[in-house]
Amino acid sequence: MNNDIREAAEWVRHSERLLVFTGAGISAESGIPTFRDDDGFWREFPPERFATWDGLFKTALHQPRAFAEFVHAVIAPIAAAEPNAAHRAIADAERHVDVTVVTQNIDRLHWEAGTTTTHEVHGSMFEIVDRRRRFRRYVSRQQLRRVATAIERASRGLLTLPRVMWAVRRIAGIGVRGIHFPNLVLFGDALAEPAWSASRRAAEQVDCVIQVGCSGMVYPAATLPEIARAQGATVIDVDPHSGQGDIWLRGTATQIVPELMNTAFAPR
Ligand code: APR
Repeated sequence: MNNDIREAAEWVRHSERLLVFTGAGISAESGIPTFRDDDGFWREFPPERFATWDGLFKTALHQPRAFAEFVHAVIAPIAAAEPNAAHRAIADAERHVDVTVVTQNIDRLHWEAGTTTTHEVHGSMFEIVDRRRRFRRYVSRQQLRRVATAIERASRGLLTLPRVMWAVRRIAGIGVRGIHFPNLVLFGDALAEPAWSASRRAAEQVDCVIQVGCSGMVYPAATLPEIARAQGATVIDVDPHSGQGDIWLRGTATQIVPELMNTAFAPR
């Protein structure tokens, strides 16, 4: 074990209120691509066309096949994903310390791993809302798998927009009660509430932050560790490529997080 993990584990062990802030990197080992790594989403699907509602709408109208490929690329990995050892270690930590998880991810893997307090500041693929963001219903991972299969089937023929919309009708479209779609926060949207307000309050009250798999490039979510640090919290960053904060634990989420939590909470 490297000394950094031992040092970081001491901060976690003596923490009374822990904030775990996660990004796409924590779900990479569950099979969900990140956004900015070499094999990330934004390499294949340029954000200017796919990361805004306006861009998505125009792509759907003019390039339904590209739109279908993007929707499938987002949904299929999430539909097939399961929590990994890092998600589970974070959930287990609740037996030892008050943990608040704030995630930028839309994959509900923290919930599924057993974490009881998760703020999804960029929304959730599993919540369907109306045009005013009022909650309509949840969709299951199984229903997402059906949508992914329906898109694959529609893609085998002439892929028109009506065929794509029929394939995704369980999660998006226009029904008798108007427009419905997944509660996702895209570029230019306000962050999801009450998740974002609760996240800021948590960041102001914690004494230790574990950041896992975050590039720190998207604001305002990326301000959370700094808000915590400004009031005296120690920031531990788990990432294989680059580190921020007070202690950088170089490695992947499943390499580092279970060992960090086991070291912190092992009986002594
Ligand atoms: N374990 C831990 N970290 C990893 C792993 C891994 N196995 N693989 C990659 N990473 C790290 C990368 O080094 C990078 O720092 O995860 C981070 C992923 O960065 P991004 O792809 O930018 O994802 P994220 O930080 O979550 O992006 C924030 O940007 O596009 C928007 O809404 C989108 O929520 C997303 C936001």
